Amino acid sequence: MKALEGVRILDFTHVQSGPTCTQLLAWFGADVIKVERPGVGDATRGQLRDIPDVDSLYFTMLNSNKRSITLNTKSEKGKEILEKLVKSCDVLVENFAPGALDRMGFGWDQVQQINPLMIYASVKGFGPGPYEDCKVYENVAQCTGGAASTTGFLDGPPTVTGAQIGDSGTGLHLALGIVTALFQRETTGKGQRVLAAMQDGVLNLCRVKLRDQQRLQHGPLKEYSQFGQGIPFGEATPRAGNDSGGGQPGWIVKCKGWETDPDAYVYFITQAAVWGSICDLIGKPEWKDDPGYAKPEARLDKIPQIFDTIEQWTKTKTKLEVMEACNPLNIPCGPILSMKELSEEPSLRATGTVVEVDHPTRGKYLTVGNPIKLSDSPSEVSRSPLLGEHTSEILTQVLGLSEDEVQETWASGALGEMPEQAAAE
Ligand code: COA
Repeated sequence: MKALEGVRILDFTHVQSGPTCTQLLAWFGADVIKVERPGVGDATRGQLRDIPDVDSLYFTMLNSNKRSITLNTKSEKGKEILEKLVKSCDVLVENFAPGALDRMGFGWDQVQQINPLMIYASVKGFGPGPYEDCKVYENVAQCTGGAASTTGFLDGPPTVTGAQIGDSGTGLHLALGIVTALFQRETTGKGQRVLAAMQDGVLNLCRVKLRDQQRLQHGPLKEYSQFGQGIPFGEATPRAGNDSGGGQPGWIVKCKGWETDPDAYVYFITQAAVWGSICDLIGKPEWKDDPGYAKPEARLDKIPQIFDTIEQWTKTKTKLEVMEACNPLNIPCGPILSMKELSEEPSLRATGTVVEVDHPTRGKYLTVGNPIKLSDSPSEVSRSPLLGEHTSEILTQVLGLSEDEVQETWASGALGEMPEQAAAE
C-alpha cells in the first residue's frame, strides 16, 4: 500500500512545473492520468531531443509513473469524456497559461459543479495582480521572484541558477498544497482551489535575501565579503557571489587540479564553533589567540583574506581529500560535484535517488527517483508513458466504457488517430 493509493489525479500539466508536482504524487502512489493533445502531446516530448523521434529526456525525466490519454478537449466528444474524467478524479492539476481551462469550459466554477469534491490545483506565473495574465517560464520566475537580483557576483550582471527553483520548486509547493487540501477534505467533505504562483514560490525560497533587505535598514551586512572589501552597500540586497546565506561565513575555494578541472573546488565554511580546528588545519595556529582573528566579530572585516589563506591549503589537496580532512574535525565543507560524478555515484543509485529505467523506444536512461523517502511507502520509478499509451485502458478501466463505446469514441476523432495495434484488435 502506497501513501496516496486510491487518489486519482487528472493531470493537465505540461513542460516542467506541473509535471514535477504530479510525478511526486505518482511516486507516492497516486494514479496520475496525463491528458495530452492528440498527435502532439506535452511539448517537451519533442524538445531538446538527443535521439530522433524518441521522447526527450526532458519529458521522460518529468513524467515517470504516469498514464497517458490523448484527448482533444475542445471537441464535443472530448468534452464529454473530460467531464466523465472530472467526475472520476480527486484532483485536477494544471499549469496552462491563465484562462486556458476557462476557455475550454473547465474553469474552477464549472469543475466545482461537476465534482464538488475536486481539488483544483494550478501553477501560474504570478498571483492575482498586475501580471496575473502573463505567461511565465523558469527564468522569468527566477528574475521576478528575487533570485536573479541576488545571485552572481557583485561586479557582474544578475544571474539565474541551474537549480530549477521556478519550475520544479513551484511544483513542490503545489504538491504540498494538494496533499494538504486532500487532508482538509477529510473533515470538510469539500474540494478547494490550490494556487502556487511561481513568483511566490521563488520568493519563498529566497527568504534569506528578504531578511537581508530589512537588515540593511540597520547598517551594512557585515557577513557579506563586500563589507570586508570596504565596498559600500546600496539600497537593495546585493549579489553576494559565493558568500553563505547564513551566519557562518563560507566561500568556494580552489583545490588541487583546478587549472584543468572546472569542478576542482570546495565550499568551505568557517563555522565559529570549529575555528580552532580550522586554524590548525590550514597552518595558522597563531590565529586562535590573535585578538584580530579569535572572535567571529573580529574576523568580519577579513573574510576575503581568510578565505585566500584557506585556499592556499585547499590547493594542495583534491576536493575529496579536503572533505576527508575536514569531516573528522566537524568542519562543514562541500566538494563541488559535477553532474558526471553524481550520475555515477553508487550511494545515490543505492538509495533510489538516481535510477536507471528501460524505455521501449529510448532504451535505458537515467532519471531521478523520489528524493523524499517514506518508511511505509516506498517509491519505485517506472518509465514515462508513450503518447496516448493508456487511452483505451483509461476509457474502460476508469470510465467504465464498453468496448463498443471505446470504438465509437476513437471513431469520433476526439482521441486522435487510433494506434495500429488497437485498430487491429
Ligand atoms: N486538447 C485541446 N486543446 C488543448 C489540450 C487538449 N488536450 N491541451 C492543451 N490545449 C490547449 C489549451 O487549451 C490552450 O489553448 P487556448 O490558448 O486556445 O485556450 C493551448 O493548448 C496551449 O496552452 P498554453 O498553456 O497557453 O501553452 P503555451 O505553450 O502557449 O504556454 C506556458 C506555455 C508554460 C508559458 C504557459 O502554459 C504558462 O504560462 N503556464 C503557467 C506557468 C507555468 O507553469 N510555467 C512554467 C512551465 S514549466
